Amino acid sequence: MISIISAIGKNNEIGKKNELLWNLPADMKHFRETTSGHTVAMGQKTFESIGRPLPKRRNIILTKDISFNIKELEIVHSLEEFDDLLKKTSLGHSLTGEARPDEEVFIIGGAQIYKLFIEKADKLYITHVDAEFSDADAFFPVIDEKIWQKNKSEKYSKDILNKYDLEFVEYIKK
Ligand SMILES: NC(=O)c1ccc[n+]([C@@H]2O[C@H](COP(=O)([O-])OP(=O)(O)OC[C@H]3O[C@@H](n4cnc5c(N)ncnc54)[C@H](OP(=O)(O)O)[C@@H]3O)[C@@H](O)[C@H]2O)c1
Repeated sequence: MISIISAIGKNNEIGKKNELLWNLPADMKHFRETTSGHTVAMGQKTFESIGRPLPKRRNIILTKDISFNIKELEIVHSLEEFDDLLKKTSLGHSLTGEARPDEEVFIIGGAQIYKLFIEKADKLYITHVDAEFSDADAFFPVIDEKIWQKNKSEKYSKDILNKYDLEFVEYIKK
């Protein structure tokens, strides 16, 4: 099963200058708890921004750069290679549904990679951040209400550590 996880502003903003737009420990906790023990896949820019493989998760990086190579990472150069890797290793679920359907593979960004996967995903975990950022330069694709329906939703009110109100929403395909 392919899931997408992201935190997005009111205009679908997700980043600026290859960084996040906010520091939200409540969302980091949600991200950690949701993805731990699973496979995470990300674009090379997001990997660069995080700066290290995420612990307790299988890390797959998408890049077109064939010279990009880091020991503890699995690297793929196209969607086809990504799918082949999942099939071959059988740890994840392939896009065509041939590998273990019980394993959840999380697409964790950024903008280019969300765009690449949104039509293939089965589920979206979206943290809606109640704020706008006019200087954002990276955006999540439009969540089409004809395709996606809210399955679960939980609100989190801003506090000392989290500057904005949040809503953790799970969307499933209609
Ligand atoms: N708010 C959130 O939840 C969230 C989550 C993640 C990231 N972000 C933000 O998103 C921004 C980064 O997004 P981005 O769009 O610039 O970068 P990105 O999606 O993280 O990575 C883009 C890179 O992925 C590789 N790529 C793209 N298409 C590919 C394909 N078809 N096959 C193989 N590789 C492919 C390319 O790497 P090469 O150039 O090496 O070929 C490309 O430069 C940052 O600001 C980050 O902080 C936000």
